[in-house]
Amino acid sequence: MSDTQLIKDKLDIVDFINEYVPLKPAGINHKGLCPFHQEKSPSFMVSRERQNWHCFGCSIGGDIFSFAQKIEGMEFIDALKFLANRAGVELKDSKINQAESSQKSRIKEINVLAARFFHHILINLPVAKPARDYLEMRGLKSETIDAWQIGFIPEQWDLLTKYLLNKGFSINDLVASGMVIKRDDANSSTQRGFYDRFRGRIMFPIWDVHDSVVGFTGRVLVETENSGGKYVNTPQTILYDKSRVIFGLNRAKKTIKEKNLAVLVEGQMDVIACHQAGMMNVVATSGTALTEWQIELLKRYTNNIAMAFDADLAGQNAAKRGIDLAREAGISLKIIKIPDGAGKDPDECLKKNPEMWWQAVEQAHDVMEWLIAKSLEGKNLTNASVKQIAVNEILREIARIPFATERDHWLKNMAARIGEEVAVLRENMQEVKNASKQKISYHSQEKEQIITIIKTEPKDRLYFLLQRLFVLLLKFSKAGRGLQWLDGALSATVKSTKFSPLYEFLKDVYTDVNNPSADWSLDKLRSACEITESENLVDVLLLKGELDFFGLTEKEAFSEAHVLEEAIKTEWKKKSLTELTQAIRVAEGQKDQPKIDELLADFSRLN
Ligand code: UTP
Ligand code: MN
Repeated sequence: MSDTQLIKDKLDIVDFINEYVPLKPAGINHKGLCPFHQEKSPSFMVSRERQNWHCFGCSIGGDIFSFAQKIEGMEFIDALKFLANRAGVELKDSKINQAESSQKSRIKEINVLAARFFHHILINLPVAKPARDYLEMRGLKSETIDAWQIGFIPEQWDLLTKYLLNKGFSINDLVASGMVIKRDDANSSTQRGFYDRFRGRIMFPIWDVHDSVVGFTGRVLVETENSGGKYVNTPQTILYDKSRVIFGLNRAKKTIKEKNLAVLVEGQMDVIACHQAGMMNVVATSGTALTEWQIELLKRYTNNIAMAFDADLAGQNAAKRGIDLAREAGISLKIIKIPDGAGKDPDECLKKNPEMWWQAVEQAHDVMEWLIAKSLEGKNLTNASVKQIAVNEILREIARIPFATERDHWLKNMAARIGEEVAVLRENMQEVKNASKQKISYHSQEKEQIITIIKTEPKDRLYFLLQRLFVLLLKFSKAGRGLQWLDGALSATVKSTKFSPLYEFLKDVYTDVNNPSADWSLDKLRSACEITESENLVDVLLLKGELDFFGLTEKEAFSEAHVLEEAIKTEWKKKSLTELTQAIRVAEGQKDQPKIDELLADFSRLN
């Protein structure tokens, strides 16, 4: 048996979670208020039998390890150790993990020492005088330099390498930390051939949310031909992943929560300047667009982001991907515009006129304003095709909003701006939506990490009806008898939803003439559904069964299944008719008579 299974069997997941969240029995499961989001009625479920948990409010869940990770803010390896210790299990088959985790702790130590070393040089050594002058010129106070532990490393080949070797670290660990680079032709048995990654740079430690130094960014002090980029960052290491780190979050998270707003800027100098000016809810990504991990991280503290980026087009295009992801994750996003002439970034603006920066943040506009303006800018809207292109562009953006009322708001806003009927735009919207259905969803490669997957699957009424039906069928294994499993609304609607493997499995069960009593095994179904996300869909739906159908009798379940089937049929018909109507309109536009006839025939058949 694996270590993880052994631990799960020794620790009772209900007792463990109960230490953090008061749980009450609910049928065969337990429920309580979710500790990961604000709620008034419980949608957080735990199953002792299946050793899993799930919150139906924030759509996350997993096993005891993922719960410990999330509630304690631990990495998987630390959660493993923590729970192994509680369970009295000695970890055996995770030697590799242990080697890795102890290298991890050595690298943590390297980073701590390097940060101290750089800071010491900046503050105390004569060689750092130009760096001190530079920072003073940029307006950083000495308290700020201390608070952010800013440092300096002079222009030499291997000052830090030597220092850390003297402290007893191995050259392998130094290379693994990203602080030291091996020359291509180096012989690793000697220390020659290794040199510092950061040379002649102002050094900024990068912390994770738990205040550990995970990496550095170094700004060149004197730009010369071969000084490399203006900023050099720690490469990917076992501690540092630039797509997961948010610069300044450890210092900003408290204020972000209080103000219920995160201000996102582009550079670390901007973050530091803002904090120094008393605006403490400011963070930055490290020269990349926002990633889904960073969004998840920010969502722990707020759902509101105000974003400032360089006015140039390249900067905007680079930021666009992150903007899309954030909006699809339900973040309410605003764009901060620094007035012309007030500086190219927050740091400059604060220097020229601090009031102006505060005001720009205060007056940040909803991202839709900005997107609409961008699409309409300089377009001749009296030209029908130019107008259509602009409209489609904006509709695609409106379609990303996961809330219906908000979508409607912007449809009306756009209608007024371009002098178009809202009804026309609504129809147009449906076309745009259908065209972009085939969107990729972003999954985590790592099974151990729990991440709310940004779901692009459309969640309309049909989706919820299907979900409810499958929840019911899992809780009441016989309730699917007598449903129309073949060639009905069910088979037509379930395609390309995540319930498809479930449907296929149950269809085979219920249409198997050799299995008249429709027996099936949960474990077989589980493996048929393996693993599209970090949790098995079956386990999640089983928990939901306890929440939705607690106390229902077999008989009631049977009739509920038929009621649901009927509702799915009605909804499917409604949806199909709408789609056909649109297709007919398009075909009419193209004067495609055979197509029109065909569609009309379909239409009357459905009706
Ligand atoms: P900027 O070029 O706008 O720099 O890059 P900045 O923040 O205004 O820096 P100062 O004020 O000149 O000191 C914005 C961010 O992009 C990343 C850094 O994170 C930087 O803060 N960047 C920039 C790099 O990673 N490498 C580079 O070579 C340049
Ligand atoms: Mn700057």
